[in-house]
Order: sequence, then C-alpha cells, then structure tokens
Amino acid sequence: MANRLPVRQPERSDGGSWPPSPGGLVSALTPVLRERHGIWVGWPGGDCDPGIIPDTVNGIGLRSVSLSDSECDGFYTGFSNGTLWPLYHDAIRTPTFDRDWWHQYREVNVRFAEIAADVAAPGATVWVHDYQLQLVPGLLRSLRPDVRIGFFLHIPFPPRELFMQLPWRREIIEGLLGADLIGFQVPGAAANFARLARQLTAATGSDSVVEIDSRQVAVGAFPISVDSRGIAAKAAQPQIIARAAQLRSDLGGPDIVFLGVDRLDYTKGIDRRMVAAGKLFSEGILRAGNHVIVQIAVPSRELDPLYQEERHHLEQLVGQVNGQFSSVGHPAIHYLNQSVSNDELIALYLAADVMLVTPLRDGMNLVSKEYVAARDGAGGQLILSEFAGAASELKGAVLVNPHDIDDITEAMRACLTRDRAEEMRNMRRLNRIVRRRDVHHWAASYLAALQETTSV
Ligand code: G6P
Repeated sequence: MANRLPVRQPERSDGGSWPPSPGGLVSALTPVLRERHGIWVGWPGGDCDPGIIPDTVNGIGLRSVSLSDSECDGFYTGFSNGTLWPLYHDAIRTPTFDRDWWHQYREVNVRFAEIAADVAAPGATVWVHDYQLQLVPGLLRSLRPDVRIGFFLHIPFPPRELFMQLPWRREIIEGLLGADLIGFQVPGAAANFARLARQLTAATGSDSVVEIDSRQVAVGAFPISVDSRGIAAKAAQPQIIARAAQLRSDLGGPDIVFLGVDRLDYTKGIDRRMVAAGKLFSEGILRAGNHVIVQIAVPSRELDPLYQEERHHLEQLVGQVNGQFSSVGHPAIHYLNQSVSNDELIALYLAADVMLVTPLRDGMNLVSKEYVAARDGAGGQLILSEFAGAASELKGAVLVNPHDIDDITEAMRACLTRDRAEEMRNMRRLNRIVRRRDVHHWAASYLAALQETTSV
C-alpha cells in the first residue's frame, strides 16, 4: 500500500498503455511486487477517473483508492505535503497545522485500511509505505488482527525537538505502533521513533523492540536502494551509449558535464548548486563552453504554493547565472523543468562526469545510487550532501554540507583536477556497494525481518 499507484494515466503518445509513475518508490517496488504476485493499493493521482484503471499492470494487481477534490486538498496537498513533509525534513519550510487537514488525513487513512482489510487474504502480509499512510497500521490491525503488517517510512523521521510541534503527535505514533515491523532509512530515524513512542505512549522497550499492549513491535533501519543490475544492463545498451555521446555533443562537447536530477522540491537544495556554479563561473574557474551544468527539475506538487515559489526562485537564479556567464550557443546551465524517460535519464547519467546531489535533508536519495549503478566501469564523481541518508553508505562520494556554499564550490573545483585512475577506483568501490545492497536485498531483508516478528 502506498499513496500512489505505480502507474500514471497514459498520454496520447503512450499508445494507451499505462506507463510507470516517476519516483524512487515505484522503481524500487515494482520488481519486488511482480515477483510476489502482490496487489498494489493506491491513489491514481490528480483528475484520473478510477473507473478506467486496469486491474493489472506489468503483472501487478492494482486496487485504486479515489480521493475527492476536497480530500486531495486536505489529505494530500494539505496534511501530507504541507504539514508532515516540511516537519519531517528539518522544518526547512514552516509546517502548517490545520485541524481540517488532519481530519481528512484520518478519513483517507481509514479508507485505505478498509480496502486493505477487504483485499488481504487470511494471514496475508500487508506492507504499508510512507508518511501519507501512518495511521493505516493501527486501523488495519483493529479490522484484521490476523494479517502481518509492515510499515516503511521513505522520508526522514524527525527528532523529538521537531516532532513535538505536531498537535497530533500521539495519534501518529499510535498509528505506526499498529505495525509488527516499522522500518526507517537510517538508524537515527529508528531511534528517534522508539524514543518518542516511549515518551508519548505506554510503550516500553529498547530502540529496536518496542512493547505495547502485550505486543512486540520491531523497529529498525533498512536503507532502500535501486535495481543496480537492471540499471547497469540498460547503461550497457548500445542505443543508450550512443544517446549519451549525442547528449555530450549536443552540449557542445564540453570538458566536464555536471548533472543534477531531482523532483523540483525545496528539500533538494537545487538552488545551492546553482549559487555554487554561479560563483565558480564568476571566478572564471568554470567557463561556459568548457564546463556545463545540466539540471533536470522534474515538476512536482505544482498546486502547492511552496513549490511554485521554489520554481520561481530557481528560474530566477538560473536566468541570472545564464544571463551573466553564457555565450551565444553555450549556456552555462541547461535547466529542464520536465520529466525525462528512464532511458534518457540513464543516458544523462552516462554523459555526466560529476553528479550533484545536494539535498538539505533527504530520507535516502535514490538518484545518487542510480548514478553509481549506471557508471559501472565508467568512472565519474559523486558530490553528495551529508544530509542524505545515502551518505552513510556511499563511502567514496565527496560529502558536502549544502548549507555551506563554499563547501560545494570546493568539491566542484576539486572534481576538475581529480586523478582519473583514482576516480575509476573510487567509482568501482561505490559500484560494489550499490550492487551488494540493491533494491532486492532491501526488500528481501525487510520482508525476512517482518516474517520473524512474533505478534501474528
Ligand atoms: C517522495 C515520497 C513518495 C512520493 C514521491 C513523489 O519520494 O517519499 O511517497 O510519492 O516523493 O511525490 P508525490 O507527492 O508526487 O507523490
């Protein structure tokens, strides 16, 4: 169960077939569910008529949950993305606390839980995903005590100091405690949760097993990953390699291509790298023609004023840098506010010498792992924020503090002169990490831990 179904409504150019929706969650779970013949319960998004959703896509059963316009505002744009998203990301933007939003969040979570109770076979395993559905484990447990319930949070889980701002803090913790296993991206998030559970409810126990109502709830870190082998295989296809070469030539055959790929989100620190690039162009360290920045900013949550503001902010920054430092035919920054296909994305990874990943806070960040997976034997450098969950695993990335622009410029400058043999060695090391702990390992280790829980 996840807020979104793993497909999006077809456009004319898709020829009527339902393409996979963008985002790390979908790319991570599709192969897992297909193998296990599971059903995916989720919302088809926007103005989609639920009546036209196919029953299965790519071998996955689909069960769609519809939202009214007012639920879309209150549950999705409101409580999920206007309250929880900023609160869980270090309150980078001020979270809004609105009682009506909360009521809609609860109601939609009840609907999801009822549907799960309806479709789950006796003794089934139900895996609930992400911050939009935190009440589902508790609600489902009361409807169907026979099922095994897992919950995985894809985004950060904040420390007490921030979480306590939430007026419905106890209800959220109690909702999560309905699960048999609660998984987080990193151990710090798991510890934050366990401490809050002990503080806000009658729960006792440690940071890895919480006891409540004579039940045990396991808590742990399961860092999500990508389909490394699938990505590497795609990156080895001749047409992808040719497309990467074409991209470099379309960019004017620069010495160095820096790439950023993100949903356009204020947590991603896209502006930081634009400011850092501007600084390096102004110091003459980067020169349009020789060096190029490509930034893909995939449109996201476009009805939310905070996202609209962020887009204007970014476009103003890009315009400023390009206005000052581009020359005719050689823009300093190539900025695309568009989604790109999976093939194009992998060709871009192949074409890029340096990947820029500078979120101010990120649960994991799958782009960093995708880049590494695509660069099998190809070298390349990864500049990675220390505030991304991936930073603790990807030993060999150049870690930066995105709050410190000079730290980013320093890392970018060092990339210009890095020894090629060392770069190759380093990327091979990173590649081994991402291959060993891929998405299949993530899902298998989570599901094995869920299977070991004792309450069913
Ligand atoms: C993040 C969240 C997902 C979410 C995705 C896209 O990765 O963890 O739960 O689906 O962003 O955001 P959207 O609001 O478009 O679903």
